[in-house]
Amino acid sequence: MPKIIRWGILGTGYIAGEFAQGLKRVPNIQLLAVGSRQFSRAQEFANRHQIPQAFGSYEDLANSDLDVVYVATPAARHRDDCLLCLHANKAVLCEKPFTINAAQAKEVIELAHSKQLFCMEAMWMRFIPLIQQVKRMIDGGEIGDICLLSADFSVPTEFRPESRYYDPSLGGGVLLDRGIYALSLAFYLLGAPESMVSQAAIGKTQVDEQIGMVLKYTQGQLAILSASFRTYSPNEAIIMGTKGRICLHEPFYRPHKISTVTKFPLVRGSAAPTSVGLKQKLTAAMKQNAWVRSLYYQFEPFLKPAKTTLQPPDGNGYSYEAAEVVRCLQMGELESKIMPLDETLKIMAAIDQMRQV
Ligand SMILES: NC(=O)c1ccc[n+]([C@@H]2O[C@H](COP(=O)([O-])OP(=O)(O)OC[C@H]3O[C@@H](n4cnc5c(N)ncnc54)[C@H](OP(=O)(O)O)[C@@H]3O)[C@@H](O)[C@H]2O)c1
Repeated sequence: MPKIIRWGILGTGYIAGEFAQGLKRVPNIQLLAVGSRQFSRAQEFANRHQIPQAFGSYEDLANSDLDVVYVATPAARHRDDCLLCLHANKAVLCEKPFTINAAQAKEVIELAHSKQLFCMEAMWMRFIPLIQQVKRMIDGGEIGDICLLSADFSVPTEFRPESRYYDPSLGGGVLLDRGIYALSLAFYLLGAPESMVSQAAIGKTQVDEQIGMVLKYTQGQLAILSASFRTYSPNEAIIMGTKGRICLHEPFYRPHKISTVTKFPLVRGSAAPTSVGLKQKLTAAMKQNAWVRSLYYQFEPFLKPAKTTLQPPDGNGYSYEAAEVVRCLQMGELESKIMPLDETLKIMAAIDQMRQV
């Protein structure tokens, strides 16, 4: 019989509720407790999600009889809340961003290591089946060597200075909230960059409301990433290689559809054809005749047929990260290979560099 993993949820806000829903789809778990700064909120949450125990403090939750705590508070609290749970000998799944800077992340990771406790950033995107499929396709060379990656996460977000999006004391800013998905995707698919540059638009509350980032890798690959609280973008990610490209359709961080192009149209700037294939003949004809070029450009869009794969995530998509935590705890693994702690730390260091903290 697999070990039953006993969960608690710390915080009672939006994502705590979504996670509680997602957890219901994971086998071999019990969601036993929820903790809030206020007992009535914990009680209400417990009633809503059929959770047996409600605690009026995070300390009481952390010290109760559980295997793992899901930390769902605003980013600025993550360090303290993670340390609290780890000191109470609980494994931790902590919402993104893991902390608000690399120094805090290091503190949490060091405590998890020293106590030999499981710990993971809840970067749920990485565990969605289509993201896993794209990772396998890229690692398997299906689109050749990667040249470019673009990703953007932009959704208009009401300006309320006191909200966790805009309040710097809660860890506000679009990079920590949204840009981190694009950044985490680039790290997952391409690894850590050699260098990076960024530009941000800072709003009235002194947090970044829009950001653009360019990451450069050792072989010249570039990741071009952006995020905004001000506009609504296609919210897609496209990975472009020497032999093809893959589009993670909106929303790329919770994809239900990918399309893959592995037949490129004619190569521009090619030398005189050395063989007599159709493609070479067409290339030569295009060079010589303006009307062939014009005809080709009319039909070019249809020469790039994309293969579409549809696979909507199960439920709200939060069950996959939880299932990975359960698997790791059952196997006695202290980290997930899909979202390892050293990568969380590198991502936080990249964020520090861009936020210049
Ligand atoms: N994975 C995702 O898709 C996703 C989506 C949204 C958010 N998130 C992340 O999840 C975390 C929480 O976001 P959320 O949207 O759930 O926020 P939220 O709705 O504001 O909830 C945050 C909860 O944290 C607790 N809290 C503790 N100190 C607080 C403070 N000073 N101000 C406000 N709340 C405080 C509150 O619970 P009590 O009052 O009960 O203590 C509150 O309900 C953030 O790190 C965010 O980036 C992830």
